Amino acid sequence: MLHPTKIDISEEKRIALISVLQGTLTEAIDLKLQSKQAHWNVRGPHFIALHELFDQVAGIVEGFVDELAERMTTLGGVANGTIGYVAEQTNLPAYSVELVSGKDHVEALSGSIAAFGKLVRENIDKAAELGDADTEDLLTEVSRGIDQQLWFVEAHIHAES
Ligand SMILES: [Fe+2]
Repeated sequence: MLHPTKIDISEEKRIALISVLQGTLTEAIDLKLQSKQAHWNVRGPHFIALHELFDQVAGIVEGFVDELAERMTTLGGVANGTIGYVAEQTNLPAYSVELVSGKDHVEALSGSIAAFGKLVRENIDKAAELGDADTEDLLTEVSRGIDQQLWFVEAHIHAES
C-alpha cells in the first residue's frame, strides 16, 4: 500500500525502495534489541566498558531505525516495526539469552553487526540501481556508522587475546 505523494519518484521505484528500506529496518530493530540484551546481561572484568559500549551501539542503531522508517513514510510507504513482524522477518543470527561473559557477548554481537553491515552494503547498491540518491545516501550513512561500531566491538576481542 502506498500513500499519495507529489514526490517526483515513480510509484514503481518507490515500491522497490520501500521494500529495500523495510529489509534494512527489520534487521536494524533486531540489532538494536540484541545490543540492549548484551548491555543488560554482560558480566566480567570488562563490565563497565562493555556495558557502556553495547548501549552506545543500541543508541546509534536506534537513530538509524528512525531514519530508515521515516524515509519509508516519506516515500509514501508504511514502516513495519512491530516486534511480531521483526521476529518473523529478520535474518540476523538469533541472539542467545544464555550469554554472560564479555567475550561471548562481543563474539555474538559483532557477528550480528557484521551481518547487518553486509545487508546494508548490498542495499546501497540496490538504492543506486533504483536511482534514489537520497536513500542511497541514508544507507551509506548507516553503513559507515555500523562499520565503525563493528570496529569498536571487535577491538575488544583482540584486546582479550
Ligand atoms: Fe542502560
